[in-house]
Amino acid sequence: MAEATRIDGKLFAEGLRNRVAEQVRNLKSNHNITPGLAVVLVGSDAASEIYVRNKNKMTHEAGMKSFEHKLPEDTTQKELLTLIDGLNSDPAVHGILVQLPLPGQIKEQAILSEIDPAKDVDGFHVYNAGKLATGAPGLVPCTPLGCLMLIKDQLGDDLSGLRALVLGRSNIVGKPMAALLLGENCTVTIAHSRTKDLAQECARADILVAAVGRAEMVKGDWIKPGATIIDVGINRLPPDADGKSKLVGDVDYAEAVLVAGAITPVPGGVGPMTIACLLQNTVTAACAQNDIDVLSL
Ligand code: GUN
Repeated sequence: MAEATRIDGKLFAEGLRNRVAEQVRNLKSNHNITPGLAVVLVGSDAASEIYVRNKNKMTHEAGMKSFEHKLPEDTTQKELLTLIDGLNSDPAVHGILVQLPLPGQIKEQAILSEIDPAKDVDGFHVYNAGKLATGAPGLVPCTPLGCLMLIKDQLGDDLSGLRALVLGRSNIVGKPMAALLLGENCTVTIAHSRTKDLAQECARADILVAAVGRAEMVKGDWIKPGATIIDVGINRLPPDADGKSKLVGDVDYAEAVLVAGAITPVPGGVGPMTIACLLQNTVTAACAQNDIDVLSL
């Protein structure tokens, strides 16, 4: 059997960012609106700092305004809530993202619930989570949104009747991913650390989305021949003999590529889609806040 198609998320994300930049140009020239995205980082987690820097760079490159708020590690919940209230009422800010995880003294849910749902470009507010769960249009979490775009690019727009297995039940990826696939009329199973016979569950799936954060857990012989595999995991392996530490996904790529029909690599698969979808969500939010049909741009 031929090797699986390698799904190039980096290339797809580049194309999406170009389309977003075109939407931004149209918003500016036809409506005099420049979408603005505020990103809030509390503390100095190294990975989060890199991520936030990339977000700011790509926001600028898409022609949008970027507002960066870096707060010290010992910021109180009240101080963060006050900042969010200010961003909620700032008309130049159309999207608000508070980078997770937050330091222990701050309750994540209290912060996420304070963000105006209309500006919740992460789609983490319970209002937007509820909309997604009930099939109403709203702001959708970026990573699962990006996964769905890659799946449709591979399989076409009609996913009806396909069996989908979502491995992982986080609020950021697993649950919204399952809701999106259900919305596409897939037969959806959510598997997690307590699932029995995980390999058998995987083997039935036409679409498998792995988001558990366990290096190379999904093996080649778990996979249905020809299946579409979306690997959300980003795991750093311990350094090898040369001192190099490799990034791998939740799927054993070397094995899976011999069985699957299509598969995302790590890195270069799902990762680049998250920021591209964040930019798209910011344009979507700016349009909704100004009663503009995003399709008309
Ligand atoms: N931390 C890791 N991924 C994300 C994300 O998608 N959004 C936010 N706000 N924080 C994150």
